[in-house]
Amino acid sequence: MPSPTPPPAIPPRDIPATTPEPYASDIARVLIEAEAIQQRVREMGAAIAQDYAGQRPLFVGVLKGVLFFMADLLQAIPIPLEVDFMSISSYSPETRDHGMVRITKDLDTPLAGRHVIFVEDMIDTGLTLGYLLRILRSRNPASLHVAVMFDKPSRRLLDIPTRYHGFRLPDLFVVGYGLDYREQYRNLPFVGVLAPHVIAARKD
Ligand code: IMP
Ligand code: MG
Repeated sequence: MPSPTPPPAIPPRDIPATTPEPYASDIARVLIEAEAIQQRVREMGAAIAQDYAGQRPLFVGVLKGVLFFMADLLQAIPIPLEVDFMSISSYSPETRDHGMVRITKDLDTPLAGRHVIFVEDMIDTGLTLGYLLRILRSRNPASLHVAVMFDKPSRRLLDIPTRYHGFRLPDLFVVGYGLDYREQYRNLPFVGVLAPHVIAARKD
């Protein structure tokens, strides 16, 4: 059963005192606290476990952003399952706009006949995921569904049917819980918005 998508909840929250510098001063505000993330992941895991009992589903993710979500999600799914990862890189800034990516490390596991859940940290335009799903579908899985933690629907260019959702986000660049800015901030346990002095230096 699809998990319900919660409304965007974005009141200002304090940056946890445990946040190290320079991370603490680079974050303007916390959007989703660590506890809320963990609670939501447990709910998603419970829904998936119920839907896939007896099917030994295969969870597939793209490194590196999904690492944290994947690890927490799988521990919240108390049924036999398997996991595999792939890596991609954009051909160029131009082709990135079309979602065309190069697979730099493919999955080790054949998908034919498997019940596959594509786990994604963030859907923004949807172009990357749309492209990858076409490739995975061509490998003839028995089923293919998407579990996404963070979703920016206002940025969508390609409609992607998702079965399990974490949080909807406004059109802001965020970091934490696997999401990076120039490879930094992935290990923050919450999701936050970068401070203006960091964004001013941003080129994308
Ligand atoms: P898209 O859906 O093809 O636009 O690409 C989504 C990917 O862009 C995600 O998997 C992230 O890696 C990256 N991304 C999009 N928005 C953010 C953000 O706010 N912070 C960090 N990475 C982001
Ligand atoms: Mg990603």
